[in-house]
Amino acid sequence: MKKFAVIGYPIKHSKSPQIHNAGFQEFNIEAEFEAIEVKPENLEKWMQEEFPNYEGLAVTIPHKETIGNFLDKKSEASKIIGAVNTVYRIEENICGTNTDCIGALKALQTEVPNLKDKKVLVLGAGGASRALLFALKTAESKISLWNRTEKKAIELAEEFQIASVENLKALNPDDFDIIINSTSVGLGEWKSLLDEDFWQPHHVAFDMVYKPLETKFLNDAENAGGKSITGDKMLVFQALEQFKIWHDIEVEPEIFESAFFLD
Ligand code: ATR
Repeated sequence: MKKFAVIGYPIKHSKSPQIHNAGFQEFNIEAEFEAIEVKPENLEKWMQEEFPNYEGLAVTIPHKETIGNFLDKKSEASKIIGAVNTVYRIEENICGTNTDCIGALKALQTEVPNLKDKKVLVLGAGGASRALLFALKTAESKISLWNRTEKKAIELAEEFQIASVENLKALNPDDFDIIINSTSVGLGEWKSLLDEDFWQPHHVAFDMVYKPLETKFLNDAENAGGKSITGDKMLVFQALEQFKIWHDIEVEPEIFESAFFLD
């Protein structure tokens, strides 16, 4: 029986096992997928002693930035993003890549298939934002970045060669086609960084928060006649990419989408 796992700390709420196990069932793959709690101080030991039993790993907080130290090879994308969320084996090598960026790209493409030259406002400059910015750069979108801590927005904007914006209240909504929340604002709370009257019918809103799925950010966009993309889409699409890497199988998104909503 092949073994796969998601490692993180905490790990209880990870949706990866239910999603990947649904894929194993669908394609009759003899494998199991577990969620394993690994504390940061134990990562090195776990990789040495336990990882040899596993074919592949999904990696989540707080290990995405440090797992790279225990790999033989890293993809260019994961080097630029500075985070690995998928570990796989090629012969003797342990390899790492990042599927969050593909997840973000495919989630956006459910509403906007061609992102080239689309004017995108990104809120937030954390780890999730880096994967998103990489995806948007690849798609040749025109990106503006805002962050509560302005210094981080300026630094990240310089690194990715994009514009940074200082004051959300001073922005003209006409200047943007797509607005993305990559901050934790809205996580378990009915709050949005944008005023209700910011939103216009031509806007597409994407919220990376998925608890709750319907956030105030998305709700305000919809009330103004705009379109919305919920945070589950990114998780599902990044998992589809992982499945392709580990098993060389393209799964229908609906299969993982229904598995996401189990429990
Ligand atoms: P992740 O890996 O999910 O991106 P992170 O790296 O901790 O998490 O980043 C969290 C993001 O949410 C940051 O952009 C953070 O802004 P700061 O850099 O100013 O801390 C943003 N954030 C969190 N709480 C916020 C709030 N109340 N208002 C605005 N931005 C907030």
